[in-house]
This record gives sequence, C-alpha cells and structure tokens, in this order.
Amino acid sequence: MDISIIGSGHVGLVTGAALAHRGHRLLCVDSDLKKIQGLREGKLPFFEPGLDALVHAGCRSDRLSFGTSAAEAVAFGRVVFICVPTPATPEGGADLAFVDAVARDIARSLTDYRLVVEKSTVPVNTGERLRATLSEFAPPEAEVDLASNPEFLREGAAVEDALRPDRVVIGVSNARSERLLREIYAPFDAPLVVTDIRSAELIKHASNSFLALKISYINAVGEICERAGASVMDVARGMGLDPRIGHAFLRAGIGYGGSCFPKDVAAFNAIARDLGYDFGLLREVERINREARDRFVAKVAAELRGCEGRVIAALGLTFKPNTDDLRESVSVTVARRLEALGASLRTYDPRANGHVRTLLPGATVCSTAYEAARGAECALILTEWDEFRRLDFDRLRSVMAHPLIIDGRNLLEPEQIRARGFTYRSVGRP
Ligand code: UGA
Repeated sequence: MDISIIGSGHVGLVTGAALAHRGHRLLCVDSDLKKIQGLREGKLPFFEPGLDALVHAGCRSDRLSFGTSAAEAVAFGRVVFICVPTPATPEGGADLAFVDAVARDIARSLTDYRLVVEKSTVPVNTGERLRATLSEFAPPEAEVDLASNPEFLREGAAVEDALRPDRVVIGVSNARSERLLREIYAPFDAPLVVTDIRSAELIKHASNSFLALKISYINAVGEICERAGASVMDVARGMGLDPRIGHAFLRAGIGYGGSCFPKDVAAFNAIARDLGYDFGLLREVERINREARDRFVAKVAAELRGCEGRVIAALGLTFKPNTDDLRESVSVTVARRLEALGASLRTYDPRANGHVRTLLPGATVCSTAYEAARGAECALILTEWDEFRRLDFDRLRSVMAHPLIIDGRNLLEPEQIRARGFTYRSVGRP
C-alpha cells in the first residue's frame, strides 16, 4: 500500500522504515529541510541501532523516499500517519500545536479519500479535535476517515519493536479504516487490538504511566531495602518471577527520564484532572522519581564529604543506553546538580559527547571512561551502557585519585568491584 508519514523523528522514521521493510511503499516527510536532505544522502538524524541498515535498504528498494510537505504526503499515500511531537505545556498537558497544524495542512491538500492516522502520543479525545479540524479545512469533495494507532517503540530497541511489535493497537470509527489498517499490519503477524478511537488513545498514556509507576515502585522499595539492609536486586528478582508482576521495569536506580515518561505521566495526570478525576497516584510516581535523583546526589555528596572542589567522573549521560538522546536525561540532571554543588565534572558517554558541551558547559568532556576517571575522587555510573560492565577496573583504579564507584544503575556486581580494591556504593543494596 502507498503510505505517507508526516514527521520523520524517532517514531515516524522508524515506523516508515519498518513499514517499507514489510513491503509497503512509504513517503516520510518532515518540515526540517536539512533533515530530509540528510536522509536523501543516506545520513540519519539520530542514532538508533539497526536503523541505518533498514533505511538504506528501504531507499535501495525504492520503497522508502522522503519529502518536505504535507501536500506531497497527501498526494502520495492513501493512508497518512501523523508522527509529530507533542511537547509538554507549562501546565504539564500535551501541546497539540504541531498536530493541529499538520491536520490543517492535510485537510487543505485533500482532493478525494484519505485515512488520517494519529500516531503521535496525544490525550484522549484528540481524535475528535482532529476530525473537527479536518472537516473544517477540507474542500467539499474530500472524504476523510480518522484513526488512532499509538506506537510503543523503545529508543535503543525501536527497530526490533517496530518490526516485531508485541501488539498493534488500532482505534477506528468505521469498517473502512479498520480494513486499511489491518492490511497495513497484516505482514507483521502481531496481535491486533481493535478499539474505538478514545480507548486506543488511552492505551498509550495508560501503558507509559504504568511502566513509570513500576519504576517508581521499585525505587521506593529500593529505599526501604537500603534502610533495612536488604538488596533491591534480590527483591525485584523474587517479585518478577511471579508472571503477574514480571521482571521488566523493576530496575531500581536514579529514576526514569527521556522524552516520553516524564511528559506522558504529567499529561495523563492533566487529562485526568480535566476529566474531573484526581489521579494522585501519578503525582506520587513523579515525586518518587524526583526523590530518586535527589537521594543519589545526596549520597554522592555524603560519600565525598561535600562536593565543593571534588573531581567527579560521570560515566554515561544519555537517558538510557543505546541511544544518543539526552532529552530529560536524569544522568544529565544529576551531573548538573553536582556541578552546582561545586564539583568539577569529567564526563564520558559512548554516544552523546557532541551534545554534552551545550548541556554541561563547565564539564571536561572525555573520549574514554579512563580519561574521565583520571584524577577523580569518585566515578559515577549514571547510564547503564554495557561497556561499563567490561571496563578494566584495575586500570580505572590506577588513574583515579580515590577508588570510589557510586553506581546509579546497579550495573556492577558489588563483590567483583570490591575485590578490585574499590569502595562501591549503589542503589537499594546494603
Ligand atoms: C518508553 C516506553 O517504554 C515505550 O513503550 C514507548 O513507546 C516510548 O516510551 C514512547 O512513548 O515513545 P523510552 O522512553 O524509549 O520508551 O525508554 P524506556 O526503555 O521505557 O526507559 C525510560 C526511562 O526509564 C529510562 O530513563 C530508563 O533508564 C528508565 N528505567 C527503565 C528505569 O529506571 N528502570 C527500569 O526498570 C526501566
């Protein structure tokens, strides 16, 4: 099928490349001309494992191409996906300005039938709003259906998630939209959840908020473990074996970040408030998440007996491993806080160093973990990059001024690290 995607960021580009890989013909458009020019030359705008190969294969097979306007998208695809950002408003709600603008552009370009699909993360009832915009701005001869198809891609594993989704949610209001979306996802062999549009919109916010809740829950349990002299790793393992609970998202640490969870929990809270329901549980999720980073900063300050003038190596700055994304990264927040307390930071991240200079202008940006650790009184693990497990810890210790590791992600094995002569602290472990 001929499909268009408006917005070629993480969601749009990965979805487009995956749909092309499964045999559809895709046009991905974006208003950022530089990004589209780069894509046409084979340059990806961000790092995502496996995406370059998928995009290049799509372009070679002529099933994936790029454009710059909604008009091109409407002319090309019988189905048009909206994948533009929905940033947070100052009040914590979702800012729908980009979505609204795209809906108007689509409407003005319509000449005959199109199915418009919202894939951006939007509050419940956005479908109604888009339908109203489309009918207000579309010419009388146009015919348009609207559907919701939320995405569940994880950065760092997005290609795998897009090619082999654990479920595909489609919210539709008629059989014609359902038939088109079923046809699009037929080659994916994934369970299809077909609902009305509002339920599909809610599935996305309810899922992300629930995952954030799991993280805050285990972080609170971690705090209890630390006070009681127990290990949160063991507690999580014991809990996770119950299939009703599961192991996923029970990793205690410095809290969740990224461009999705913080924004989506706040937005779901705002949606509930607008609907007259006080979702206090979600505010607790946010509070515990803030507390996790506060406690970690306090732990570092306590171990070092104050941060003023201390040299600290910050290892890992992206909001999670296998991405170059620094948006809402807790690792960066922690690093900034320590700087504000007077520490002198030496940072290393396997992917994000280019952007670090803007976010942490006072830090010394290093190209290896060993360089970052040189002269440091303490090394912090802030993002759980796999390469930090495999460091040569004898070498690391030999360059440090003081052999102290504080692990914000419980990445390392305490006994092994202590056997190498380090003082080792982590989160929720005795
Ligand atoms: C999240 C969801 O997992 C995806 O399903 C969803 O599609 C996406 O948001 C989105 O809305 O677009 P993502 O933000 O890429 O994906 O990252 P996650 O893997 O969910 O991690 C989010 C944060 O939680 C990271 O900072 C991570 O370090 C933290 N985390 C995760 C923990 O602290 N503990 C855990 O056990 C798991």
